[in-house]
Amino acid sequence: MIYLNGQFMPLEQAMVPVLDRGFIFGDGVYEVIPVYSRLPFRLDEHLRRLQHSLDSIKLANPHTDAEWKQIIHDLIEKNEGEDQYLYLQVTRGVAKRDHAFPKVIKQTVFMMSSPLLHPDPALKTSGVTAITAVDNRWLRCDIKSISLLPNVLLRQLAVEAGTMEAVLLRDGFLIEGAASNIFVVKNGTLYAPPKNHLMLPGITYDVVIELARANGIPVEIGDVPEAAVRDADELLLTSSTREVLPITQLDGQPVGNGQPGPIFQRMDTLYQTHKATVMRRKN
Ligand code: PDD
Repeated sequence: MIYLNGQFMPLEQAMVPVLDRGFIFGDGVYEVIPVYSRLPFRLDEHLRRLQHSLDSIKLANPHTDAEWKQIIHDLIEKNEGEDQYLYLQVTRGVAKRDHAFPKVIKQTVFMMSSPLLHPDPALKTSGVTAITAVDNRWLRCDIKSISLLPNVLLRQLAVEAGTMEAVLLRDGFLIEGAASNIFVVKNGTLYAPPKNHLMLPGITYDVVIELARANGIPVEIGDVPEAAVRDADELLLTSSTREVLPITQLDGQPVGNGQPGPIFQRMDTLYQTHKATVMRRKN
């Protein structure tokens, strides 16, 4: 069951007019929210980021947080599975094709739930592979825009190279992954690029930094040069759907000793424990 403009219905019945500005212009924003034990994880943070994306594209939020929470609650109820992930999209609605905003706007609101497939445990023991690529996206990557063509092309580049992710570099500095955030580990310290207009402020990125700081792992937030990426002891990839994963090979070269390292092991344990604790508290 999905949610579309006030109604719940089976996915096959959901239709959007072809003049929707999401379809014509990619004019909209989205969120991906993990659900563990039927409870949304870090929902307030996701709703805050949604508001930031909407404000940035000058689109009014069609719902209050209380309304969003109700829709999300109902959608989870109507779907099976303890662990799900919600995809939520708001577009600038249906209008005659014209780049400028229509005078009257009725946002299109779509939300669906999919089973949250946990990363294959083998990925945590062997690690994942990645390539580097030049970040050729725009200068507002902090907006979770549905216009994802550059990300799609970059991820495809990674897949065609037989790897899982593209690590994006801009002007000689680490930015993020095509659909993830990236951390560098050197001598036990976690290095993260700063949240700014060039990258998506990941919710998982925040969780990892919070947990590292609370558990005595030194964290440094600041520009990370490409050389530091290539010279890393470990590289970590984070996202709501993939949690924390170790990148053990970059551009065909081993990262550190080519095995998932101690900081990854630590962060993965802290993340799993944190998740379980939060969900138990909510229950
Ligand atoms: N993507 N950077 C980019 C470009 C992303 O697309 C994502 C997530 C992240 C990680 O953000 P978070 O920790 O909040 O998931 C960083 C989602 C999962 C997607 O597009 O499917």
